[in-house]
Amino acid sequence: MKSPRAFFKPLAIGAPEPYRDLPVRLERMIHFVPPHNDKVRAKVGELAAKVDVVLGNLEDAVPADQKLNARRGFIEMAKTVDFGSTGLWTRINCLNSPWVLDDITEIVAEVGDKLDVIMLPKVEGPWDVHYLDQLLAQLEARHGVKKPILIHAILETAEGVKNVDQIAAASPRMHGMSLGPADLAASRGMKTTRVGGGHPDYAVLADAAGDAPRAAFQQDLWHYTVAKMVDACQSVGIKAFYGPFGDFSDAAACEAQFRNAFLMGCLGAWSLHPTQIDIAKRVFSPDPNEVAFAKKILDAMPDGTGAVMIDGKMQDDATWKQAKVIVDLAKLVAS
Ligand code: GLV
Ligand code: MG
Repeated sequence: MKSPRAFFKPLAIGAPEPYRDLPVRLERMIHFVPPHNDKVRAKVGELAAKVDVVLGNLEDAVPADQKLNARRGFIEMAKTVDFGSTGLWTRINCLNSPWVLDDITEIVAEVGDKLDVIMLPKVEGPWDVHYLDQLLAQLEARHGVKKPILIHAILETAEGVKNVDQIAAASPRMHGMSLGPADLAASRGMKTTRVGGGHPDYAVLADAAGDAPRAAFQQDLWHYTVAKMVDACQSVGIKAFYGPFGDFSDAAACEAQFRNAFLMGCLGAWSLHPTQIDIAKRVFSPDPNEVAFAKKILDAMPDGTGAVMIDGKMQDDATWKQAKVIVDLAKLVAS
């Protein structure tokens, strides 16, 4: 199936044309910054050189009395900092909040041409994406924005997970989707107090073997949702991302959680702390040994068909396609 982007025709007169020609970008980490913080803002230029995406966060974690400053700070940052090839995103407030309309209208009016993606929180169904889509079409046309602004949904309510396929296909503006494990845990009534990651009580016990103590194997709390999100996204040609990992002191657990998501098809995760930038860079860039093996497969089957043995393992058309995913990503990392 072709990406729905290929069939897009803008509705608003004067709105920007082609979504299909947007470049494929490396987005291993979406790095969150609080734009109301003057010290952070002063260093954003330096930061931009180290990350794939800088996101100015206006939603949760910004206190209500700082919402206006965060929006103004983001606009100032977008006007004054040279982001080069680094993506510039913002996470706006949710659609039923008192701040969101001004977030959208002021940001598109002032810096619409600088903005790549709007992250939309708490998306419950395609109707939320349609609302933002139409509003953006009007504002892009009114302000002469030349490059279409894309939409990235956060999957963080039980209703959203139920409607994930329709959300992914809701608009040709859809860039992708991130798992929002903290809000999703609350929405589902999970008995946790964490931002992403596992839980020591979510485990299975190994079978009893005489009197030996039984090992407990911790499970991935997010496996089901990540798998569902990846299928919804890949089936319409958009990208899936793991979201935040809140325990900054546990780099190993963060890396393991990101790696599960990478292996399952995600292309990146959020970095909320500087230490998570390198973790995401490492995890979401393919391993050189894997790349070397994948290249062997491509070389052994130049037209992508047939069956060959490499290092004792059977390869065929399907492993050729897997190898191509890894080699294509390695090329993007190297470019
Ligand atoms: C992110 O927004 C989350 O709720 O995990
Ligand atoms: Mg959230």
